[in-house]
Amino acid sequence: MSEYDQTYKEQFDLLTFHTDEYKQSIPFIETTLLPKLPQQGHFLDVGAGRGTISMPMSRHFDHTTIVEPNTVYFQEVLDWAKGVGVSLDGHNGDWLEIDSSPIQADLAVLSHVLYFVPYANRSQFVRKAYNCVKRGGYMVIILISATSGINHLYRTLLAPQDYKEMPSIESVVVDLRAEGYDNMHLTMFDADIHLPTVEEMHELMDFLVVDKVAFDNDDMLAKRDQYIRDYLEKESSYNINSNIGVLSIYKQ
Ligand SMILES: C[S@@+](CC[C@H](N)C(=O)[O-])C[C@H]1O[C@@H](n2cnc3c(N)ncnc32)[C@H](O)[C@@H]1O
Repeated sequence: MSEYDQTYKEQFDLLTFHTDEYKQSIPFIETTLLPKLPQQGHFLDVGAGRGTISMPMSRHFDHTTIVEPNTVYFQEVLDWAKGVGVSLDGHNGDWLEIDSSPIQADLAVLSHVLYFVPYANRSQFVRKAYNCVKRGGYMVIILISATSGINHLYRTLLAPQDYKEMPSIESVVVDLRAEGYDNMHLTMFDADIHLPTVEEMHELMDFLVVDKVAFDNDDMLAKRDQYIRDYLEKESSYNINSNIGVLSIYKQ
């Protein structure tokens, strides 16, 4: 297990345990998209993380494939599947590197993964997932909204070029439309991440900026602390707005 994988897991776990996002997005997929699928044979989760989506979704499908480069997460999800007896396999690697030719998915999800994909590879990354979806199936992309507090944090703290290349769900819709995707439907959800302590907010901010900013010098630490005081400090907790969009793309 690499130190990077372990740190990533600790920071992303912090986020998932303190957000109200998934209790909205997962039932939305279950109640709105699953009934539209001709079959619930194969589910593909690209960038599965700790399995927050794979775990509930895999119970609705005959088989699930996860793709996850973080070895700690990958093993945890595989062990979970074995324990509960759902049919699940996967690839512990980069989506762009794996052989996806055998994958024929009824539903493919890319939830909060595109921030980690360099802008130059984004189109290819999404196209590869779309190519794995059967006709009549759906691809779902979940990302923060341009209206979110997280996007405001990026606009304030990232270098202008990094901010420009950081995806929001709205910017991805614009790019995909220009690439010729159609049958797209965007549903927005209000969400927040509530953290009890400022130390946890520091951890979360380190995670959210995706290596684009290092809070490791006096100047950046002062900017971070000022940002927290101005926007994130509440009476008894530290909150950041994390509004999201769930983009579903039907494959005709
Ligand atoms: C923020 S987490 C989201 C996890 C999960 N989809 C969710 O919504 O809870 C992003 C995940 O994408 C994974 N990831 C990053 N780059 C990737 C790549 N090139 N191919 C596949 N997964 C990747 C990371 O390891 C991480 O677990």
